[in-house]
Amino acid sequence: MALKGVVLAGGMGSRLHPLTRVTNKHLLPIYDEPMVYYPIRALVEAGVRDIMVVTGGESAGHFLQLLGNGDAFGLEHLEYGYQKGAGGIAEALGLTRYFVGDDDLVVILGDNILENPITGAVQRYREQRSGARILLKKVHDPGRFGVAEIDAQGRVIGIEEKPKQPKTDLAVIGVYMYDNSVYSVVDGLKRSDRGELEITDVNNAYLRRGDLHAEEIEGWWTDAGTFESLHLANRLVRDLRISRRG
Ligand code: G1P
Repeated sequence: MALKGVVLAGGMGSRLHPLTRVTNKHLLPIYDEPMVYYPIRALVEAGVRDIMVVTGGESAGHFLQLLGNGDAFGLEHLEYGYQKGAGGIAEALGLTRYFVGDDDLVVILGDNILENPITGAVQRYREQRSGARILLKKVHDPGRFGVAEIDAQGRVIGIEEKPKQPKTDLAVIGVYMYDNSVYSVVDGLKRSDRGELEITDVNNAYLRRGDLHAEEIEGWWTDAGTFESLHLANRLVRDLRISRRG
C-alpha cells in the first residue's frame, strides 16, 4: 500500500494574534523560510512525495502562490484542501479521504519543526503495515500538548489532551501515521468541549483496539503556535543552520 502525506495548515492561529490577523500561521517565517516548508520537507525527505496541504481561512490562496506545484521540494504536483472554520485537526484530516483513497497516510501538523528527519519512523510504519504510529518527545511543559501515559514496559496506555495534571512529560508530537481505517474513526468522533474533533481521540481509538504504536524521537522538536514556541523554533533552526554551515 502506498503512503500519502498530509500537511495540516489550517486553524485560526488565535494564540498568535495580531501576527495572524491577516495571514495564516503557517506562512509566518521560521528563520529563513515560511513555516509550512518544514513539514513538507520532512515528508519529502522521508520518501513521501504524494502530498496534500489542507489549509483554511482568508489567506488560503497564498499557499497556492507560495507552493505552486511543489517544485521548491522537487515535486511535480501538490494537492490542496480547504477547511472552513475551526473544526479541529481531526476534522481537517477527514477532508483528505478522497486524496488518500485506499492508501495509508503520514500526517504532520504544519507548525511542527523537527531537528532530525522522520525517515526512520516512516520506514518502521511501512513495516508495521496497519494500525497507527505516533511519536513522543519529553518536554518541560506537557500540559500544552497531548500527553502519553505509559506502563512499565513503555507501552502507551492512554493519551490526554492538554491535561491540567499531566501524568508524564511525554508529549505526543504532531506527526501521526494511520492506516485507511482512520476515516471511519474520524466519522465516529464527537466534538470536544472546545468544539473541535480532536486528534487525541483518534489516537485513543487506535489504542483501545490495541493498534497504536509509539516511539520516542531523538533530537529537538517544537511546535510554533505560541509566541514563545515560535521564537524558540526560529532560534533552533537558526542554530542548526549555522552549525551545519560551520
Ligand atoms: C495539537 C494536538 C496535541 C499535540 C500538538 C502537537 O495541539 O491537539 O495533541 O500534542 O498539536 O503540536 P494544538 O497545537 O492544536 O494545541
